[in-house]
Order: sequence, then structure tokens, then C-alpha cells
Amino acid sequence: MLLCVINILANHLHLNMPVQDQDSSKDAAEENGLPKLPLPDLKDTLDMYLRCVKHLLTEEQFNKTQKIVKQFEAPGGVGELLQSKLVEKREKTANWVFDYWLNDMYLNNRVALPVNSSPVMVFPQQNFRAPIDSLKFAAHLISGVLEYKALLDAHDLPVDCARGQLAGTPLCMEQYHRLFTSHRLPGLEKDTLVALESSMMPDPEHMIVACKNQFFVLNVVINFCRLNERDLLIQLEKIKKMAESGEDRLPPVGLLTSDGRTEWAEARSILMRESINRDSLDMIERSMCLVCLDEASGPELSDTTRAMLMLHGGGAAKNGGNRWYDKPMQFVVGEDGCCGVVCEHSPFEGIVLVQCTEYLLKYMIGSPSKLVRAASVSKLPAPRKLHWKCSPEIQKRISSSADKLQRLVKNLDMNVHKFCDYGKEFIKKQKMSPDAFIQVALQLAYYRCHGRMVSTYESASTRRFQKGRVDNIRSATPEALAFIRAMTDGKLNSSLLQNIEKMRMLREAITAQTNYTVLAISGMAIDNHLLGLREIAQEMKMEKPEIFKDAAYLISNHFLLSTSQVPTTVEMFCCYGPVVQNGYGVCYNPQSDHIIFSVSSFHESPETCSAEFVKHLLQGLQDMMDLCNECSTDPNTAERRKGPTLEPHSQASQLEKTLQRESDPTKGKSPAQTNVQIQSQSSAKVKKNNEKK
Ligand code: COA
Repeated sequence: MLLCVINILANHLHLNMPVQDQDSSKDAAEENGLPKLPLPDLKDTLDMYLRCVKHLLTEEQFNKTQKIVKQFEAPGGVGELLQSKLVEKREKTANWVFDYWLNDMYLNNRVALPVNSSPVMVFPQQNFRAPIDSLKFAAHLISGVLEYKALLDAHDLPVDCARGQLAGTPLCMEQYHRLFTSHRLPGLEKDTLVALESSMMPDPEHMIVACKNQFFVLNVVINFCRLNERDLLIQLEKIKKMAESGEDRLPPVGLLTSDGRTEWAEARSILMRESINRDSLDMIERSMCLVCLDEASGPELSDTTRAMLMLHGGGAAKNGGNRWYDKPMQFVVGEDGCCGVVCEHSPFEGIVLVQCTEYLLKYMIGSPSKLVRAASVSKLPAPRKLHWKCSPEIQKRISSSADKLQRLVKNLDMNVHKFCDYGKEFIKKQKMSPDAFIQVALQLAYYRCHGRMVSTYESASTRRFQKGRVDNIRSATPEALAFIRAMTDGKLNSSLLQNIEKMRMLREAITAQTNYTVLAISGMAIDNHLLGLREIAQEMKMEKPEIFKDAAYLISNHFLLSTSQVPTTVEMFCCYGPVVQNGYGVCYNPQSDHIIFSVSSFHESPETCSAEFVKHLLQGLQDMMDLCNECSTDPNTAERRKGPTLEPHSQASQLEKTLQRESDPTKGKSPAQTNVQIQSQSSAKVKKNNEKK
């Protein structure tokens, strides 16, 4: 209660709570009977850590790391002490890593949100013939948001169920409740994720509409009635008129939110000195979401261009100031048909964003616009424009933020490519996991670009557990490296025997990747565990253990390749920027017969080039398909094989079987049996760990 009172005061008398301080015992996830996130064994994690970094380090570096790890895990040593503290923490909290992860991944991070942190969904290009069409689209979209929010508020959203690996388990739904009730508050050293305490205060009943860098309050409930689509359109038209009138045009304050977090925190505290600014900030922060009515951005609207515009708004000269990056959901409706969602990432994962967005797009397709039929609330009050009092200091800061955003605009090297040669159905036919296959292809692409393998991040959902977010699948496996080396050893005309050997290596790489995936989604991966050990040491005010100062730890956490699968069932795609200056961000959306890749990097890095990466990725996917076809045991595929070097099918399949039996521990088992075995091994491991606790 005391905490709550403090927060009430801290949030200017709003009943808002920092997310990490909320009482987890009342959490819906627990009520739904989801298990707690397990805590892996210390030894398992450290062994896996060594295995993951060995081939990414020099021999000298690895020898040093091995010694450090041995010391850390020695009986009675620091590792054991920290592990015991984590065991205690696990007992007391719904999810032992939740706070550590949220702080480390987002709230402590000082970088600007656009491009660096906020992912976006890019809608299919809309064909608006006249400016009113974009407003109609926005009104329809807002109606969808209100429908969706009503479902959320009534707890009527069906519980998500896992698909793919370990399919069928229910998933934690708590992230959904932050979609329209939270915001990220900038801090000088650390941000706060603030969520409205809905049990104490009614949910917001207004949205903010941004138009020409001005902000307007759009009340969506007037006289206890939810506005219908026609009323919403009327209000949007009024907003547009007010924004265009040119009177009282205020500086683009939204640009401040695109700056580094510390810079924005400083600027915000200056803004807060004026009561008029406090009111405007309050209205924005407590709103459901933003609807950004963007101006047309230019003639060429390829997927890549729209992705970039969604990520940074095109800078101050275009729509970069027509945003408020602290709000989790910003729906962008461009006059030129460039539409999508910009999302502040700390409250939820991309999958939740997709689920919500898909609902909206399906709603818009399935429920025709109701502009004509519905009765209107008579004499709607005009939406209120938010005002700002901007001191010269703030003006200076706005132009500095604009400069930095412009640099980001120039720096972003984006390449969106729809790979149409095949999709996940072809991969499934090879009896391989599509996700693992794509990850191996990404490793091959990076290697072909840069001649080495690097630490890689792939997000794996841990929503099978209470308050689960994600952990990391370390896709740069030694098995992938062996396969890649075989694929890039310069032997152009591979014989069938050589190809069969490569195929065996590919299968091993896929198996290693799939096993790690299962480990990660079972809550048994290493990244969150190591983070927990590091953070609890800090909480205990211990000197940072050597293992976390070691070069290996720093190298393994510098993700030059940051990847994520974000599949959709509606035509749209997700993208985001790289997480380090010299790295790539790769988001992919596998469909039955094609895969959409969004690759980003920074022009300022002399090492990276998104187009080059895509080129090698396409080549790799092609090579992997050829390899599969050439070594296929499927008579249909085998018949399609061409070229003089090919051996008869029966011989090929016999050879492959022999090689597979020698290398594959799952030999002689059907894919279904193998899958069950992996699952049960993993569940046994989780169970074993939980029993120990
Ligand atoms: N043979 C045939 N089919 C196979 C197969 C095999 N050996 N292995 C998998 N498949 C099938 C699966 O059954 C599944 O079928 P479906 O499409 O009918 O459901 C399909 O291939 C996809 O499975 P797979 O490619 O293995 O991946 P997945 O769907 O399990 O996804 C992750 C793996 C890691 C991406 C997923 O678990 C996850 O965590 N997703 C969340 C990522 C995230 O949070 N992203 C956003 C971050 S902001």
C-alpha cells in the first residue's frame, strides 16, 4: 500500500504503477495455473556457456574463460552463493528474471527508441484516392481498437496456445494488458515502465491524434457512449482542419521523445516546470494510444521505404515529429497509404503486437465501414489541442533532437526482401524445423559476408511460464559452423558423396538449433540465467564476478546478428534496427510458400551492408534448397534432379541413410518419435530442476 501511495505521488496523482513493482501474487498467469519459470542448474548453464563461446573465441581467450568458469563454479564458490540467492528469489516472485530482464533489455538502455529499440509493423500499401480516404481508414481502425480493447477489458481474449515446437501449451497473457494502459517514462539513469492500475482507476477513454506535429485529445467515450465510426471520422476531420489552419502552430515537441533516453528525461523535466506542459504530458501518457495522421512522404513506396518511414518517420522534415515514442502503440496512417504500427517494446513482445494488429486488420476487412448507418452523437465537442510552453532551452533541445533523428534516418540501411522460391512447406517436407533452417541460412549468409561466425541472438518466447517474456537461442552453434565451412570450402563441383556429407552436416546443424530452441522455450537457456547471476551479485553489492568481466562474456553479448521470427497470418511484416552499431537486425516472416526478410544495419559501419547480406542470404537459401533436392530421398524430387554428376536415386538414399545412422542419435526413429523424445527429455530436465527447488 505504501508503495502504491508513493507511486501515486510520483506520477502526479495518477494511479500508475511501475510494472516491475506490481504484486505478482494476484497475477492472472498464476490464476491460470501456469508454472513458474524454472531456474537451470548452475553447472548446466556454465557447460553450455563454454560450448556456445568456444568457436567464437581465440584459443587463448577460451583457455582463460575456461579457468574463470571453473573458479566460478567451484564448490563453495561465488557461483553457488549467487545460485542459492536466485533460488530464493524464484520462491518469492512470479518470475525470477522479469525485473532483471526488463531493466537490462530496455529500461537501463539509453539509446534512442526509434530504429534502435522500437519495432514496427508495416501494413500493406493502402490505396487512398483522396485525403478523406486516409481519415476513413483511421476511423475504421480506431473502431477496431475500441472493439479489441473491450475484449481485453472483459478478459474475453482467448488464451494463446503455443504452436510449432512444444505445441499446445497455454501461454501467459499478461503482456496484452499493457497494450493500451502503459507508457515508458524516461529517467536520467533508468526509465520506468508505468502501467495503469486498472483495479484502482478506470481505463483511459481518450486517444491522442498527432497531425502535423500537433497533438489532439480524441475522447472516444462521450456522454457514456462509445463514439461510432462516423463520429470518429467527424472528429478526425475537425482535427485535420485545426492542424492545417496554421494558427497557433506549436513546436514539434514529439521530436524530444525520439532522442536518447537521458536527453529526453532532461528535456521532460524542463517541460514539467510549466503547468500547461504537465497537463499535455499527462494527457498523452495516460492515453490509450496514438493515431498519427502522417503527411505523404514521397513518391516511391517500396516495402523497404515504408519500413524505413515506419521506423523513423522520415526525420523532422517528414513525420518524425508526429510521434510520441514513449507510448506502446502508435498507429500510423499516412495520406499516401503508408500505414502501420510503431511499438514501444518494453511492455510486450512482437508476437503480442502481431496478435493485436491482426485482429484490427481482420476487423477492418471483415467488418465493413459503418460510416453511413450509425447514428451520431449530436454536437460533439471539438477535440482539444494540447498546448506547450516551450522555453528557448526546449526549442534548442528540439532542434538537437531533430538533428540526431536526421542522423539516424541517414544511417539506417534497410532492405526488405520477399523470398519467393520456397517457404516453410518445402522445409517441413525435408522433415526439418523451418525456423532452424532459416537460422542456419542466416549463419551462412553472415559467414559469406564476413568470413566468420559471430554471437547471435534469436528471441525465444518463455510465455509458457508466469510473466514469461523471452530468452535467447544462441544460433551460432558449432554444428552450424561445421556445415557452413563445408558449404564455403571453395570446392565448386561437389560430388554427390560430398553433398551427402554436407546434407548430414546440415541436419546436424538443424538438430542442434532445434534442441537449443526447445531448451530456450522450456526456460532452460543460458542468457537469462547468466543475467540473473550477474544482477543478483550487484544487488548483494559484491564485486562484479570475474566471469562477467571476461572478454568472452562481452563478446558473447555483443550481438552482431540480432534475429527474430515474427510470423503473421495477415499480409504485413515486422522490422526493427540492429542492436549494435556494427551489426544486423534480421526479422523474418515465414509463410507457406515464401519468406519475408527485413534486414537492417547502419551505413556508418564500414563492416555492414544490408543489400550484401540479403544477396548472400538468397544465395544460401538457394544452395540449401539445391542440397536438399540433390540428396532427397523423395522420388518426386529425385526425378527432378538434373546434371551429369548425379548418381541413381537408390544409391543416394542408401548412402544418406548410412551416414545419417552414423551421426544421428535419433537414428531409426520417425520424426514424430524424435520430436517426442526431445520434448520429453526437455520436460524431464525442467521437471528435475523444479523438483530440486
Ligand atoms: N518436420 C516437419 N515439420 C516441422 C519440423 C520437422 N522436423 N519441425 C517443426 N515443424 C513444423 C512445426 O510443427 C510447425 O508447424 P505449424 O506451422 O503447423 O505450426 C512449423 O514447422 C514451425 O515450427 P518451427 O519452424 O520449428 O518453429 P516454431 O514455430 O516452433 O518457432 C520460435 C520457433 C523460437 C520462433 C518460437 O518458439 C518462438 O519462441 N517464437 C516467439 C519469437 C518472438 O518472441 N518473436 C518476437 C520477438 S519481439
